[in-house]
Amino acid sequence: MDLKIGIAGLGTVGLGVIELLAERAALLVERCGRRIVVTAVSSRDRHRDRGVDIGAMQWFDDPRVMAADADVDVIVELIGGSGGVALDVCNAAIAAGKPVVTANKAMIAHHGAALAEAAEAAGVSLGYEAAVAGGIPIVKALREGLAGNRIERVYGILNGTCNYILSAMSDNGSDFDDVLAEAQRLGYAEADPSFDIDGIDAAHKIAILASLAFGTVPNLAGVHTEGISRITSLDTTYAAELGYRIKLLGVANMTDHGLEQRVHPCMVPQAAQIAQIEGVFNAVVTEGDFVDRTMFCGRGAGAGPTASAVVADLVDVARGNVLPTFGVPAGQLRHVQAASMARHVGAYYIRLRVIDQPGVMADVTAALGDAQVSVKALIQHSHDLGDGASVVLTTHETGEASMLQALKVIAALDTVLEAPCMIRIEQL
Ligand code: HSE
Repeated sequence: MDLKIGIAGLGTVGLGVIELLAERAALLVERCGRRIVVTAVSSRDRHRDRGVDIGAMQWFDDPRVMAADADVDVIVELIGGSGGVALDVCNAAIAAGKPVVTANKAMIAHHGAALAEAAEAAGVSLGYEAAVAGGIPIVKALREGLAGNRIERVYGILNGTCNYILSAMSDNGSDFDDVLAEAQRLGYAEADPSFDIDGIDAAHKIAILASLAFGTVPNLAGVHTEGISRITSLDTTYAAELGYRIKLLGVANMTDHGLEQRVHPCMVPQAAQIAQIEGVFNAVVTEGDFVDRTMFCGRGAGAGPTASAVVADLVDVARGNVLPTFGVPAGQLRHVQAASMARHVGAYYIRLRVIDQPGVMADVTAALGDAQVSVKALIQHSHDLGDGASVVLTTHETGEASMLQALKVIAALDTVLEAPCMIRIEQL
């Protein structure tokens, strides 16, 4: 019997799903033993020319009505937004006993636990492979392929827009604003890029990955989130001099004082595998106790890769697979407190713009020493700023609270001309 799909939202991804299901129809029958057919659609504008024939599909003005329609077996939610209609559609489908497949990272990060509980109570699956890192099958990897491991850390490049911008800044010595404008012109960055460049999109994704890795309720509010707009071409240049590359990473690991989840620019060693991931590509690294390190890379966005992930979830439905949404039954997901960033321990890169005069270094190093922060390397570049000099230093491992205390003193020095730039160095 055919699996009848209703798609809510006919944007790039929705059309990609229709195209993939049509072009790979025979292959999917071989793999699932039945056809997967789009029989119903709903979107904002019925009459828009989409370049795809949807004439044979039943049209619904209201996707919530489609979700409850007896002639639809599965709902694919591609509307987006953390709540509103998208959430209503998913709840309506689950209430009607239908599996849901979604690409909506914001909704899963905000409401994943409640949706999972409802889906599991109804005996249906909630698929969201497309919500994290586009075409990379990392949800399946964590939930199935790595299920025998205790995961110690999961991290990754989870936003292609940021990785494109940082890669171009590093490669060409360009400034953030210029690269962002170019990325918008090429269609890699949204007209309103704030979700991407402020780290919010990556925060949604790491909250979901942490839940899968550690069996915890997704806790978006517990993700310390910083974006990339403060990174300058000086930082990418000095990073290269010091043997690093700057990447926006999402990182999650369990500590003895709670779950640490963070998204921020990181200095990663140039030799690290993840440093080689360039342009719009994403990568996710998992560290498991038996498997050791695995790395998955691929395209994190776009019609084809995202449709590939959506269809993988549909194949599960067609095969009759129903797995716990976050790897353990929803009722057993643990509430673990978020670890405070003040207790983060790591090494730091600091860049200062200072007046080039005697005693400046002594004041800076005194502030670091008073806070028990140990300097690893210290370089002064006097040539690159007209009325001042750049001082760049790296530290040994230290507690973030100590680092911030030292920076507060340094920022208040008369000889320091602008707010210090701090970038965490990641041990990978
Ligand atoms: N806008 C995201 C990115 C893709 O740039 O990677 C969707 O989450």
